[in-house]
Amino acid sequence: SKDGYRHFMLKEIYEQPQVIAATLEGRLSERRVLAESFGPQAEALLSRARQVHIVACGTSYHAGLVARYWLEKYAGLPTQVEVASEYRYRRVVVPEDTLFVTLSQSGETADTLAALRFARERGYLGSLAICNVPGSSLVRESDLALMTQAGPEIGVASTKAFTTQLVALMLLTLSLGRRHGLDAAEEARIVQALHALPGVVRQVLGLDAAIEALSTAFAEKQHALFLGRGAHYPIALEGALKLKEISYIHAEAYPAGELKHGPLALVDSEMPVISVAPNDELLEKLKSNLQEVRARGGELFVFADESVRLEDTEGVHVLRLPRIDEALAPLLYTLPLQLLSYHVAVLKGTDVDQPRNLAKSVTVE
Ligand code: M6R
Repeated sequence: SKDGYRHFMLKEIYEQPQVIAATLEGRLSERRVLAESFGPQAEALLSRARQVHIVACGTSYHAGLVARYWLEKYAGLPTQVEVASEYRYRRVVVPEDTLFVTLSQSGETADTLAALRFARERGYLGSLAICNVPGSSLVRESDLALMTQAGPEIGVASTKAFTTQLVALMLLTLSLGRRHGLDAAEEARIVQALHALPGVVRQVLGLDAAIEALSTAFAEKQHALFLGRGAHYPIALEGALKLKEISYIHAEAYPAGELKHGPLALVDSEMPVISVAPNDELLEKLKSNLQEVRARGGELFVFADESVRLEDTEGVHVLRLPRIDEALAPLLYTLPLQLLSYHVAVLKGTDVDQPRNLAKSVTVE
């Protein structure tokens, strides 16, 4: 049931504090990720891994893209991420001691499953599925499984499955990191931030009314551009996918530094630009891009934390999020983008939970 919410999607967005807590449950001590989190056979696989290949589709693929930033930064492991429908049809070079990771809410996505079967013949160290459905084909056919605890996700647009995948991927990053030189104090700092995460996510949900107010600027638009840098570039991709899926507005995401290399030509007063820029370090580099957007009459929507020196001015809307450890910022900045697309879709009167042409689980190629 929708528990009084107007749509499943909204209910699922609001469940994120609980399902993130459930995904962390029993997997953390005060300062560390518990070794047992990945099951008894995990030790051999995780300690031998020297690189990681991640394969998934859609929103799950975006979670994989975030994990690449994390695995390379915190665990020092070379990481590749690819959409399953491409991966399964090419010649893939697999370096020795590579761990194969699939990400899937349903565990039944045809391309992801086919990719796993293809990978089995390619000499990987072993496979890990990060999945939300116990007993799914993907879980049954993988060597290891780390379950997300998102509960059933009914809305076709994935929300809580994505943020719980990110939580699981951070647990994987820290587990691999510990075996590959991650400093214990840094692990402890991120683990403490994970403990606090459900509470911070709840605070961000409190911004819903402010986000709904911003959504009116999009209802009449045909296009939107999302910008992010670093691990927030995949969050921009995910924001654009959500807007496309449920509001049918054409949206694209770019790493902010690419703006001048082409997409700037599209910007005018009809092209709102959404940028995810948690802190000043990222924003400094974005600022000149943002000015270029303003100079062409584009309306700007910036999601940033309190530390960012940027004021609301004509055509510039700044929405403040609570401060969070930078390791977890991509997780938090996902939420306002989910809420924004939701409210735009409601304004446009689309079928939010069952958008046209799409199925919840893509079990055919
Ligand atoms: O069940 P999966 O995570 O394998 O599904 C992958 C994609 O089909 C899915 O994420 C799709 O992109 C969603 N509709 C996005 O909201």
